[in-house]
Amino acid sequence: MHNILFITHNKHKFEEAYEKAKLFNINLQWINVEYEEIQDDSLEEIARSSCLKILELRPDLKDKSFFIEDAGLFIDYLKGFPGPYSSYVFRTIGNHGILKLLYDVPDNKRSAFFKSVIAYYNAGQIELFSGIAQGKIIKELRGTQGFGFDPIFMPVGSNKTFAQMNKESKNLKGHRGKSLQELFTSLSNRLRL
Ligand code: IMP
Repeated sequence: MHNILFITHNKHKFEEAYEKAKLFNINLQWINVEYEEIQDDSLEEIARSSCLKILELRPDLKDKSFFIEDAGLFIDYLKGFPGPYSSYVFRTIGNHGILKLLYDVPDNKRSAFFKSVIAYYNAGQIELFSGIAQGKIIKELRGTQGFGFDPIFMPVGSNKTFAQMNKESKNLKGHRGKSLQELFTSLSNRLRL
């Protein structure tokens, strides 16, 4: 069993990642480090800079392996808004605000995607892994599982929102499931070498 740290303050994210890690025989450990996230147009830049900030705050992590993850919801009709600003938008206008912005927008123009970027730190290097989930914003909130924009996002090929899925199903279709799959596949290939 290989040990890796996932630094996040989000319990749901950790639980999704823990489930996925088990499939790769990786023992994921959760630590929470308070750090300030930069605002930037690129999730990759945010993820990389968060990693560097954490190393500044916690020099004891320099000889450990850890990763952080940053995600955003990109709505095509709103030209990619809220994207990297998703956290602020969720805290301010929330799901109801997004539905208001899309009021009267027909079904065929409600496409959106989630993107997840993982920054993995090991031995002085940072590597990025990403995953995308295509789907649409439905017209009302559905489901009670998950977090954030899950109740209004329905992935392509499903008639359920992320909030109507258990963690396993969300991981199969979800952006974070995909970026984690990339990370863990890469790690298990290396560990076998
Ligand atoms: P964060 O900066 O990666 O924590 O994510 C930005 C915002 O996007 C969060 O506040 C969540 O509201 C939302 N978000 C991130 N990942 C997900 C997800 O898997 N489902 C629903 N909302 C998400």
